[in-house]
Amino acid sequence: MSTPTAPVTLIPARHDTACPYAPPPAYTEAASTGPVTRAELPDGSPCWLVTGYQEVRTVLSDHRFSADARRPAFPFLTEGRRELVAANPSFIRLDDPEHARLRRMVTGDFLVKRVEEMRPGIQRIVDEALDRMTARGGPNGPADLVADFALPVPSLVICLLLGVPYEDREEFQANSRLMLDIEADDRVVTRAQEDLLDYLARLAELKRTEPGDDILSRLVTREDLSPREIASTGVLLLVAGHETTANMIGLSTALLLRHPEQAARLADPAAVPGAVEELLRLLTIVHTGVPRQALEDVELGGTLIRAGDGVMAMLSTANRDDELFGTEGHLGVDEVDLDREARRHMAFGFGVHQCLGQPLARAELQIALATLFRRLPGLRLAVPEEELEFRSEALIYGLRELPVAW
Ligand code: HEM
Repeated sequence: MSTPTAPVTLIPARHDTACPYAPPPAYTEAASTGPVTRAELPDGSPCWLVTGYQEVRTVLSDHRFSADARRPAFPFLTEGRRELVAANPSFIRLDDPEHARLRRMVTGDFLVKRVEEMRPGIQRIVDEALDRMTARGGPNGPADLVADFALPVPSLVICLLLGVPYEDREEFQANSRLMLDIEADDRVVTRAQEDLLDYLARLAELKRTEPGDDILSRLVTREDLSPREIASTGVLLLVAGHETTANMIGLSTALLLRHPEQAARLADPAAVPGAVEELLRLLTIVHTGVPRQALEDVELGGTLIRAGDGVMAMLSTANRDDELFGTEGHLGVDEVDLDREARRHMAFGFGVHQCLGQPLARAELQIALATLFRRLPGLRLAVPEEELEFRSEALIYGLRELPVAW
Protein backbone atom coordinates (compact mmCIF):
# COMPACT_ATOMS: atom_id res chain seq x y z
CA MET A 1 0.00 0.00 0.00
CA SER A 2 1.42 3.36 -0.93
CA THR A 3 1.05 6.29 1.42
CA PRO A 4 -0.22 9.47 -0.18
CA THR A 5 2.54 12.06 -0.39
CA ALA A 6 1.86 15.51 1.02
CA PRO A 7 1.85 18.27 -1.60
CA VAL A 8 5.16 20.08 -1.81
CA THR A 9 5.29 23.85 -2.36
CA LEU A 10 7.93 25.04 -4.76
CA ILE A 11 9.94 28.07 -3.67
CA PRO A 12 9.84 30.71 -5.07
CA ALA A 13 6.19 30.53 -6.07
CA ARG A 14 4.62 32.72 -8.74
CA HIS A 15 2.33 35.62 -7.92
CA ASP A 16 -1.20 35.57 -9.30
CA THR A 17 -1.35 38.31 -11.95
CA ALA A 18 -5.04 38.85 -11.13
CA CYS A 19 -4.15 39.55 -7.51
CA PRO A 20 -0.59 40.94 -7.57
CA TYR A 21 -0.64 42.45 -4.07
CA ALA A 22 -1.34 39.13 -2.36
CA PRO A 23 1.29 36.46 -1.57
CA PRO A 24 1.56 33.76 -4.27
CA PRO A 25 -1.42 31.37 -4.02
CA ALA A 26 0.95 28.43 -3.40
CA TYR A 27 2.01 30.00 -0.08
CA THR A 28 -1.48 30.87 1.09
CA GLU A 29 -2.63 27.34 0.21
CA ALA A 30 0.27 25.89 2.20
CA ALA A 31 -0.60 28.20 5.10
CA SER A 32 -4.18 26.94 5.06
CA THR A 33 -2.97 23.35 5.63
CA GLY A 34 -0.78 24.19 8.63
CA PRO A 35 1.93 26.50 9.96
CA VAL A 36 4.82 24.29 8.76
CA THR A 37 4.71 22.40 5.45
CA ARG A 38 7.13 20.61 3.16
CA ALA A 39 8.70 22.57 0.33
CA GLU A 40 11.30 22.28 -2.38
CA LEU A 41 13.96 24.75 -3.46
CA PRO A 42 14.74 25.37 -7.16
CA ASP A 43 17.64 22.87 -7.06
CA GLY A 44 15.23 20.16 -5.85
CA SER A 45 16.51 20.06 -2.27
CA PRO A 46 13.87 19.82 0.44
CA CYS A 47 13.19 22.52 2.99
CA TRP A 48 10.38 23.57 5.33
CA LEU A 49 7.97 26.35 4.53
CA VAL A 50 7.05 28.12 7.76
CA THR A 51 3.91 30.22 7.27
CA GLY A 52 2.34 30.66 10.74
CA TYR A 53 2.90 33.91 12.68
CA GLN A 54 4.10 32.31 15.94
CA GLU A 55 6.25 29.75 14.12
CA VAL A 56 7.93 32.44 11.98
CA ARG A 57 8.64 34.40 15.17
CA THR A 58 10.22 31.32 16.72
CA VAL A 59 12.42 30.59 13.68
CA LEU A 60 13.69 34.17 13.61
CA SER A 61 14.34 34.53 17.34
CA ASP A 62 15.47 31.07 18.46
CA HIS A 63 19.25 30.52 18.44
CA ARG A 64 18.67 26.93 17.28
CA PHE A 65 18.04 28.38 13.81
CA SER A 66 21.13 29.76 12.08
CA ALA A 67 21.41 32.56 9.52
CA ASP A 68 25.01 31.61 8.66
CA ALA A 69 24.93 31.06 4.90
CA ARG A 70 28.39 29.44 4.91
CA ARG A 71 27.01 26.26 6.46
CA PRO A 72 26.69 23.28 4.11
CA ALA A 73 23.08 22.76 2.97
CA PHE A 74 22.00 26.27 4.00
CA PRO A 75 18.87 26.93 1.86
CA PHE A 76 19.54 29.08 -1.21
CA LEU A 77 17.12 30.11 -3.93
CA THR A 78 19.89 29.95 -6.51
CA GLU A 79 22.74 27.51 -6.14
CA GLY A 80 25.17 29.95 -7.77
CA ARG A 81 24.89 32.30 -4.81
CA ARG A 82 26.24 29.74 -2.36
CA GLU A 83 29.95 30.28 -3.05
CA LEU A 84 29.46 33.96 -3.57
CA VAL A 85 27.85 34.56 -0.18
CA ALA A 86 30.24 32.15 1.56
CA ALA A 87 33.25 34.06 0.23
CA ASN A 88 31.93 37.49 1.26
CA PRO A 89 29.26 37.17 3.92
CA SER A 90 27.79 40.40 5.19
CA PHE A 91 26.33 40.37 8.69
CA ILE A 92 22.77 39.62 7.51
CA ARG A 93 23.95 36.06 6.78
CA LEU A 94 26.18 35.51 9.84
CA ASP A 95 25.40 34.38 13.38
CA ASP A 96 26.42 35.99 16.64
CA PRO A 97 29.02 36.80 17.82
CA GLU A 98 30.33 37.71 14.31
CA HIS A 99 26.97 39.21 13.32
CA ALA A 100 26.70 41.31 16.48
CA ARG A 101 30.30 42.56 16.19
CA LEU A 102 29.72 43.88 12.64
CA ARG A 103 26.16 45.14 13.20
CA ARG A 104 27.33 47.13 16.22
CA MET A 105 29.63 49.19 13.97
CA VAL A 106 26.62 50.81 12.29
CA THR A 107 23.69 50.58 14.75
CA GLY A 108 24.24 54.18 15.95
CA ASP A 109 23.65 55.53 12.45
CA PHE A 110 20.12 54.12 12.22
CA LEU A 111 18.75 54.78 15.71
CA VAL A 112 15.29 56.38 15.87
CA LYS A 113 16.81 59.53 17.41
CA ARG A 114 19.33 59.91 14.56
CA VAL A 115 16.68 59.29 11.94
CA GLU A 116 14.36 61.89 13.51
CA GLU A 117 17.11 64.46 12.98
CA MET A 118 17.26 63.45 9.32
CA ARG A 119 13.56 64.16 8.66
CA PRO A 120 13.98 67.75 7.34
CA GLY A 121 16.69 66.52 4.95
CA ILE A 122 14.49 63.63 3.76
CA GLN A 123 11.58 66.05 3.25
CA ARG A 124 13.83 68.23 1.08
CA ILE A 125 14.94 65.23 -1.00
CA VAL A 126 11.29 64.16 -1.47
CA ASP A 127 10.19 67.68 -2.48
CA GLU A 128 13.05 68.08 -4.92
CA ALA A 129 12.35 64.69 -6.52
CA LEU A 130 8.71 65.70 -6.99
CA ASP A 131 9.75 69.10 -8.39
CA ARG A 132 11.95 67.36 -10.96
CA MET A 133 9.27 64.78 -11.81
CA THR A 134 6.53 67.38 -12.34
CA ALA A 135 8.86 69.72 -14.25
CA ARG A 136 9.86 66.93 -16.60
CA GLY A 137 6.39 65.40 -16.96
CA GLY A 138 4.66 68.72 -17.72
CA PRO A 139 1.55 70.11 -15.98
CA ASN A 140 -0.30 66.75 -15.99
CA GLY A 141 2.39 64.12 -16.51
CA PRO A 142 2.99 61.45 -17.50
CA ALA A 143 5.98 60.17 -15.56
CA ASP A 144 7.34 56.85 -14.36
CA LEU A 145 6.90 57.11 -10.61
CA VAL A 146 9.42 54.30 -10.00
CA ALA A 147 12.30 55.86 -11.97
CA ASP A 148 11.45 59.49 -11.15
CA PHE A 149 10.46 59.28 -7.48
CA ALA A 150 10.45 55.90 -5.73
CA LEU A 151 14.03 54.99 -6.65
CA PRO A 152 15.78 58.41 -6.39
CA VAL A 153 14.49 59.23 -2.88
CA PRO A 154 15.97 56.30 -0.89
CA SER A 155 19.00 56.12 -3.20
CA LEU A 156 19.90 59.73 -2.45
CA VAL A 157 19.37 59.27 1.28
CA ILE A 158 21.55 56.16 1.58
CA CYS A 159 24.23 57.75 -0.67
CA LEU A 160 24.47 60.73 1.67
CA LEU A 161 24.61 58.52 4.76
CA LEU A 162 27.21 56.13 3.38
CA GLY A 163 29.28 58.68 1.48
CA VAL A 164 28.60 57.16 -1.95
CA PRO A 165 28.51 59.66 -4.87
CA TYR A 166 24.94 59.78 -6.25
CA GLU A 167 26.43 60.28 -9.76
CA ASP A 168 27.39 56.59 -9.65
CA ARG A 169 23.77 55.50 -9.20
CA GLU A 170 23.20 53.93 -12.60
CA GLU A 171 25.92 51.37 -12.02
CA PHE A 172 25.13 50.55 -8.40
CA GLN A 173 21.37 50.44 -9.00
CA ALA A 174 21.83 48.06 -11.96
CA ASN A 175 24.20 45.81 -9.99
CA SER A 176 21.86 45.79 -6.97
CA ARG A 177 18.95 44.68 -9.17
CA LEU A 178 21.04 41.85 -10.61
CA MET A 179 22.10 40.71 -7.13
CA LEU A 180 18.45 40.45 -6.14
CA ASP A 181 17.27 38.76 -9.36
CA ILE A 182 16.50 35.10 -8.71
CA GLU A 183 16.32 34.29 -12.41
CA ALA A 184 19.54 36.00 -13.52
CA ASP A 185 22.40 33.82 -14.68
CA ASP A 186 24.73 32.90 -11.79
CA ARG A 187 27.76 34.32 -13.60
CA VAL A 188 25.98 37.63 -14.10
CA VAL A 189 25.04 37.76 -10.40
CA THR A 190 28.60 36.91 -9.35
CA ARG A 191 29.93 39.68 -11.57
CA ALA A 192 27.42 42.20 -10.18
CA GLN A 193 28.33 41.41 -6.57
CA GLU A 194 32.07 41.52 -7.31
CA ASP A 195 31.68 44.86 -9.09
CA LEU A 196 29.81 46.29 -6.12
CA LEU A 197 32.34 44.95 -3.62
CA ASP A 198 35.25 46.39 -5.65
CA TYR A 199 33.42 49.71 -5.98
CA LEU A 200 32.82 49.98 -2.22
CA ALA A 201 36.40 48.85 -1.46
CA ARG A 202 37.83 51.55 -3.79
CA LEU A 203 35.55 54.18 -2.31
CA ALA A 204 36.56 53.20 1.24
CA GLU A 205 40.25 53.46 0.28
CA LEU A 206 39.60 56.98 -1.01
CA LYS A 207 37.96 57.92 2.29
CA ARG A 208 41.20 57.16 4.12
CA THR A 209 42.82 60.17 2.48
CA GLU A 210 39.72 62.26 1.81
CA PRO A 211 37.31 61.54 4.67
CA GLY A 212 33.80 62.97 4.75
CA ASP A 213 31.05 63.04 7.38
CA ASP A 214 29.70 59.62 6.46
CA ILE A 215 29.55 55.96 7.49
CA LEU A 216 32.28 54.68 5.15
CA SER A 217 34.73 57.36 6.32
CA ARG A 218 34.10 56.27 9.89
CA LEU A 219 34.40 52.55 9.17
CA VAL A 220 37.84 52.91 7.55
CA THR A 221 39.27 54.43 10.73
CA ARG A 222 38.49 51.26 12.68
CA GLU A 223 41.38 48.90 13.18
CA ASP A 224 39.13 45.99 14.10
CA LEU A 225 37.58 45.82 10.61
CA SER A 226 39.22 44.28 7.57
CA PRO A 227 38.90 46.01 4.14
CA ARG A 228 36.73 43.06 3.02
CA GLU A 229 34.38 43.51 6.00
CA ILE A 230 34.05 47.23 5.27
CA ALA A 231 33.23 46.53 1.61
CA SER A 232 30.64 43.84 2.37
CA THR A 233 28.98 46.01 5.05
CA GLY A 234 28.93 48.88 2.54
CA VAL A 235 27.29 46.67 -0.12
CA LEU A 236 24.67 45.43 2.36
CA LEU A 237 23.74 48.97 3.44
CA LEU A 238 23.74 50.34 -0.09
CA VAL A 239 21.59 47.55 -1.56
CA ALA A 240 19.20 47.13 1.40
CA GLY A 241 19.06 50.90 1.81
CA HIS A 242 17.57 51.75 -1.56
CA GLU A 243 15.94 48.72 -3.26
CA THR A 244 13.60 47.91 -0.38
CA THR A 245 12.15 51.35 0.28
CA ALA A 246 11.97 52.12 -3.45
CA ASN A 247 9.82 49.03 -4.03
CA MET A 248 7.61 49.89 -1.06
CA ILE A 249 6.99 53.44 -2.36
CA GLY A 250 6.09 52.16 -5.84
CA LEU A 251 3.85 49.30 -4.69
CA SER A 252 2.13 51.37 -1.99
CA THR A 253 1.33 54.12 -4.49
CA ALA A 254 -0.15 51.65 -6.99
CA LEU A 255 -2.25 50.03 -4.26
CA LEU A 256 -3.48 53.39 -2.92
CA LEU A 257 -4.47 54.53 -6.42
CA ARG A 258 -6.84 51.55 -6.40
CA HIS A 259 -8.31 52.74 -3.09
CA PRO A 260 -8.64 56.55 -3.21
CA GLU A 261 -10.77 56.58 -0.05
CA GLN A 262 -7.83 55.02 1.80
CA ALA A 263 -5.26 57.32 0.19
CA ALA A 264 -7.29 60.26 1.56
CA ARG A 265 -6.32 59.15 5.10
CA LEU A 266 -2.75 60.28 4.39
CA ALA A 267 -3.96 63.90 4.56
CA ASP A 268 -4.20 63.44 8.35
CA PRO A 269 -0.61 63.62 9.71
CA ALA A 270 -1.64 61.61 12.78
CA ALA A 271 -2.81 58.73 10.56
CA VAL A 272 0.38 58.51 8.46
CA PRO A 273 2.62 56.35 10.73
CA GLY A 274 -0.14 53.75 11.21
CA ALA A 275 -0.94 53.82 7.49
CA VAL A 276 2.66 52.98 6.65
CA GLU A 277 2.63 50.03 9.09
CA GLU A 278 -0.48 48.66 7.35
CA LEU A 279 1.15 49.01 3.91
CA LEU A 280 4.30 47.26 5.18
CA ARG A 281 2.15 44.45 6.59
CA LEU A 282 -0.02 43.91 3.56
CA LEU A 283 2.67 44.25 0.91
CA THR A 284 5.51 42.42 2.74
CA ILE A 285 8.05 42.97 -0.05
CA VAL A 286 10.56 40.41 1.29
CA HIS A 287 8.27 37.89 -0.37
CA THR A 288 10.34 34.78 -1.05
CA GLY A 289 10.95 34.00 2.62
CA VAL A 290 13.79 34.51 5.05
CA PRO A 291 16.22 31.55 5.01
CA ARG A 292 17.46 29.79 8.13
CA GLN A 293 18.90 26.36 8.99
CA ALA A 294 18.11 24.25 12.06
CA LEU A 295 21.17 23.55 14.22
CA GLU A 296 19.34 21.03 16.43
CA ASP A 297 16.15 18.98 16.19
CA VAL A 298 13.28 21.40 16.88
CA GLU A 299 9.55 20.82 17.27
CA LEU A 300 7.79 23.56 15.42
CA GLY A 301 4.04 23.82 14.99
CA GLY A 302 3.65 20.08 15.57
CA THR A 303 6.36 19.17 13.02
CA LEU A 304 9.80 17.82 13.82
CA ILE A 305 12.48 19.85 12.04
CA ARG A 306 15.76 17.90 12.01
CA ALA A 307 19.19 19.39 12.67
CA GLY A 308 20.57 20.55 9.30
CA ASP A 309 17.16 21.07 7.66
CA GLY A 310 16.63 24.28 5.70
CA VAL A 311 13.71 26.52 6.61
CA MET A 312 12.05 29.42 4.80
CA ALA A 313 10.20 31.80 7.14
CA MET A 314 7.38 33.40 5.15
CA LEU A 315 6.78 36.89 6.45
CA SER A 316 3.94 37.50 3.98
CA THR A 317 1.59 34.78 5.26
CA ALA A 318 2.51 35.49 8.90
CA ASN A 319 1.52 39.10 8.31
CA ARG A 320 -1.99 38.00 7.32
CA ASP A 321 -2.67 36.17 10.58
CA ASP A 322 -6.37 36.56 11.21
CA GLU A 323 -6.21 36.50 15.00
CA LEU A 324 -3.62 39.24 15.17
CA PHE A 325 -4.66 41.57 12.40
CA GLY A 326 -8.31 40.74 11.77
CA THR A 327 -9.72 43.06 14.44
CA GLU A 328 -13.43 43.76 14.62
CA GLY A 329 -14.59 46.89 12.89
CA HIS A 330 -11.81 46.65 10.32
CA LEU A 331 -11.64 45.17 6.84
CA GLY A 332 -10.43 41.56 6.44
CA VAL A 333 -6.67 40.89 6.67
CA ASP A 334 -6.33 40.62 2.88
CA GLU A 335 -7.66 44.14 2.41
CA VAL A 336 -5.82 47.40 2.93
CA ASP A 337 -7.20 49.30 5.94
CA LEU A 338 -4.94 52.20 6.84
CA ASP A 339 -6.58 52.58 10.26
CA ARG A 340 -5.81 49.02 11.28
CA GLU A 341 -3.51 48.37 14.26
CA ALA A 342 -0.76 46.65 12.23
CA ARG A 343 2.32 47.42 14.33
CA ARG A 344 3.06 43.80 15.19
CA HIS A 345 3.74 42.88 11.57
CA MET A 346 7.05 41.25 10.68
CA ALA A 347 7.77 42.95 7.34
CA PHE A 348 11.12 43.97 8.88
CA GLY A 349 11.78 40.46 10.17
CA PHE A 350 12.16 39.60 13.85
CA GLY A 351 14.90 38.69 16.33
CA VAL A 352 18.58 39.63 16.15
CA HIS A 353 18.52 40.19 12.39
CA GLN A 354 15.47 42.45 12.50
CA CYS A 355 15.96 45.23 9.94
CA LEU A 356 18.62 47.70 11.02
CA GLY A 357 17.27 50.36 8.67
CA GLN A 358 13.63 50.25 9.83
CA PRO A 359 13.52 53.71 11.46
CA LEU A 360 14.94 55.15 8.24
CA ALA A 361 12.57 53.15 6.01
CA ARG A 362 9.60 54.30 8.10
CA ALA A 363 10.61 57.97 7.93
CA GLU A 364 11.19 57.77 4.17
CA LEU A 365 7.86 56.04 3.53
CA GLN A 366 5.88 58.38 5.77
CA ILE A 367 7.36 61.50 4.19
CA ALA A 368 7.33 60.22 0.59
CA LEU A 369 3.75 58.91 0.55
CA ALA A 370 2.16 61.79 2.50
CA THR A 371 3.94 64.40 0.36
CA LEU A 372 3.16 62.63 -2.92
CA PHE A 373 -0.59 62.45 -2.29
CA ARG A 374 -0.73 65.97 -0.82
CA ARG A 375 1.13 67.61 -3.69
CA LEU A 376 -0.51 65.62 -6.50
CA PRO A 377 -4.17 65.16 -5.45
CA GLY A 378 -5.12 64.18 -9.02
CA LEU A 379 -2.53 61.37 -9.16
CA ARG A 380 -3.74 58.44 -11.30
CA LEU A 381 -2.42 55.57 -13.39
CA ALA A 382 -1.45 56.53 -16.93
CA VAL A 383 -1.98 52.96 -18.23
CA PRO A 384 -4.68 50.33 -17.61
CA GLU A 385 -3.94 48.54 -14.33
CA GLU A 386 -3.57 45.16 -16.09
CA GLU A 387 -0.50 46.53 -17.87
CA LEU A 388 1.50 47.05 -14.68
CA GLU A 389 4.47 44.68 -14.50
CA PHE A 390 5.44 43.26 -11.13
CA ARG A 391 8.91 41.98 -10.26
CA SER A 392 8.09 38.43 -9.23
CA GLU A 393 11.61 37.34 -10.09
CA ALA A 394 13.23 39.66 -7.55
CA LEU A 395 14.10 38.72 -3.96
CA ILE A 396 12.33 41.96 -3.07
CA TYR A 397 8.91 42.40 -4.67
CA GLY A 398 7.99 45.54 -6.53
CA LEU A 399 6.95 47.19 -9.76
CA ARG A 400 9.15 47.49 -12.81
CA GLU A 401 7.54 50.84 -13.76
CA LEU A 402 4.59 52.88 -12.55
CA PRO A 403 3.32 55.20 -15.31
CA VAL A 404 1.28 57.97 -13.68
CA ALA A 405 -0.40 61.25 -14.60
CA TRP A 406 -1.86 64.00 -12.34
C1 HEM B 1 17.42 43.20 7.49
C2 HEM B 1 13.15 44.27 5.42
C3 HEM B 1 14.72 48.82 4.56
C4 HEM B 1 19.11 47.58 6.15
C5 HEM B 1 16.13 43.12 7.03
C6 HEM B 1 15.27 41.96 7.21
C7 HEM B 1 14.08 42.25 6.60
C8 HEM B 1 14.18 43.61 6.07
C9 HEM B 1 12.87 41.35 6.49
C10 HEM B 1 15.63 40.67 7.96
C11 HEM B 1 16.32 39.65 7.10
C12 HEM B 1 16.70 38.38 7.84
O1 HEM B 1 16.29 38.15 8.98
O2 HEM B 1 17.41 37.56 7.26
C13 HEM B 1 13.22 45.60 5.01
C14 HEM B 1 12.10 46.33 4.43
C15 HEM B 1 12.54 47.61 4.19
C16 HEM B 1 13.94 47.67 4.62
C17 HEM B 1 10.72 45.77 4.17
C18 HEM B 1 11.85 48.80 3.61
C19 HEM B 1 10.59 49.00 3.54
C20 HEM B 1 16.03 48.89 4.94
C21 HEM B 1 16.84 50.09 4.88
C22 HEM B 1 18.07 49.76 5.32
C23 HEM B 1 18.05 48.33 5.66
C24 HEM B 1 16.36 51.47 4.45
C25 HEM B 1 19.20 50.74 5.46
C26 HEM B 1 20.41 50.51 5.39
C27 HEM B 1 19.01 46.30 6.64
C28 HEM B 1 20.15 45.58 7.22
C29 HEM B 1 19.66 44.31 7.59
C30 HEM B 1 18.24 44.27 7.24
C31 HEM B 1 21.56 46.12 7.39
C32 HEM B 1 20.45 43.19 8.27
C33 HEM B 1 20.24 43.24 9.77
C34 HEM B 1 20.95 42.12 10.51
O3 HEM B 1 21.23 41.08 9.93
O4 HEM B 1 21.26 42.32 11.68
N1 HEM B 1 15.43 44.12 6.36
N2 HEM B 1 14.30 46.43 5.10
N3 HEM B 1 16.79 47.85 5.42
N4 HEM B 1 17.90 45.50 6.66
FE1 HEM B 1 16.08 46.02 5.98
